Amino acid sequence: MDRKNFIKTTVLSAFGISVFGSVKAGNSKQFIGDCNTTNDILGPYYLPNAPISDNLIQDKHTGTPITVKGIVCQPDCSTPIKNVMIETWQCDSKAEYDEKTFDLRGRQYTNENGEYAFKTVIPGKYLNGSRYRPAHIHFRVTAPGYKELISQIYFKGDPHIDDDPWASTENADLRVLNIFPDDVNSNLTVEFNIYLANA
Ligand SMILES: [Fe+2]
Repeated sequence: MDRKNFIKTTVLSAFGISVFGSVKAGNSKQFIGDCNTTNDILGPYYLPNAPISDNLIQDKHTGTPITVKGIVCQPDCSTPIKNVMIETWQCDSKAEYDEKTFDLRGRQYTNENGEYAFKTVIPGKYLNGSRYRPAHIHFRVTAPGYKELISQIYFKGDPHIDDDPWASTENADLRVLNIFPDDVNSNLTVEFNIYLANA
């Protein structure tokens, strides 16, 4: 193979690897994992020091109950991280954020296997200007040695995603998630695995 063809083939195969999601070139010109979970806006409703709980539901709610669960992994995209702090907050099904009692807000740490899970309800939708934001749950994920992640998850099929400046971007593609009947009782579940970047 001559030099010109070798370069062409190498570039194509490197691109092919990236398409399948194993490696890509970072700014440092080294190959890094490309699984890192992407950031989203913090929004105006974050409150620190929410109670440590795996159940965000403190008041009575008419919204549909769901469980959100997942694993937090290192930038190699597979090794779990324990003791990662996960803060979550959201509005209720009537699109209201509680700012007094920490209802629908919670904090927890991943277990030995990097796992987390919490019970909540499907959030409602509130206006952003003249458009509704799609239903979403906010996340702040922190652990020593890793970049802080501030993000949001959305739900597949939500008709307000296409209109939303944050949920509609390619950046959010892997955070638009299925709600599925997970167990024999068909409890509704959302799975959100989180991949942190090194600090
Ligand atoms: Fe929000």
